[in-house]
Amino acid sequence: MRSRSLEHLLLLEVRQPALAAFRRDVLRGLSASPRELPCKYFYDVAGSELFERITTLDEYYLTRTEKAIMDRDVAEIAALLGPECLLVEYGSGSSTKTRLLLDHLDAPTAYVPIDVSGEFLRWSARTLERDYPGLRVTPVCADFTGPINLPSMTSRPARPVVYFPGSTIGNLTPPEAVALLRRTAELCGTGGALVLGADLQKDHDVLEAAYNDRQGVTAAFNRNLLARINRELNGDFSIEHFQHRAFYCPSFARIEIYLQSTRRQRVHIADKEFLFLGGESIRTEYSYKYTLESLRDLAQLGGFKLERTWTDNRGYFSVNLLTVC
Ligand code: TRP
Repeated sequence: MRSRSLEHLLLLEVRQPALAAFRRDVLRGLSASPRELPCKYFYDVAGSELFERITTLDEYYLTRTEKAIMDRDVAEIAALLGPECLLVEYGSGSSTKTRLLLDHLDAPTAYVPIDVSGEFLRWSARTLERDYPGLRVTPVCADFTGPINLPSMTSRPARPVVYFPGSTIGNLTPPEAVALLRRTAELCGTGGALVLGADLQKDHDVLEAAYNDRQGVTAAFNRNLLARINRELNGDFSIEHFQHRAFYCPSFARIEIYLQSTRRQRVHIADKEFLFLGGESIRTEYSYKYTLESLRDLAQLGGFKLERTWTDNRGYFSVNLLTVC
């Protein structure tokens, strides 16, 4: 006989395939060895808000530096992209960076923001339509690391341009990044372009500080993933017994981010039990750091040519124009 809560779960499953995928990914990740949780689940409403706070932190130079590069060079970038672009954005969030591009592009035909956070997406699409009368905004709620179908939009010829800022490319492993670029090249077709923000290798202390801010916002962002599992999957993580850990691993040129159990403890999610030993970690994210050379290699493997790179004067961050080969 089915219990009422099981009925309830099955109902939810029908209504929310996304929730079923979340549960499946969480159970699979926590059963893996070493344990991991996919970073795309960071961005529920609370997580998206915490991330917006991260972008304003002193230590988190990435967003600020990328913005400074765009402020300085956007006119040149937009001129190289040319008129009548169909602008697609991966992981658009609140679309604040996109406004700069939209302000400088010559008669963009449409804007297609793609994001996993439906709430944020709807909100930003509404405000963009209000602020850019005449621009067609067609949001797509999807995970851009999977296959993407663009809505059929316009009969007018438009140059597809994918905007992928924020160094989110760094959150993919190199093979995943190559695969994403290949799919993007296919999506854009010949004549298409990719504007890619990528964080660069630098002093390790600067890198590590960006992921270990003094106020603990990054720690709260990381632990919100456990809170989200508790909220949405009825988990019983005792969040205060997991510690945020982030450090640079030079041999892989990546920041590694973990949640580390501070004691031996059992956690229940759905009908599964997980035993954590003291000191045992769950990996929640990698953030790969590139060089101009490794970006050129990535572009080439992904079916693009790296045409131009713009950086700040410290060489902390890069904005890159890639064209489909
Ligand atoms: N794309 C961001 C980055 O790699 C995401 C991020 C910033 C992040 N701080 C984090 C992810 C802390 C997990 C934990 O810089």
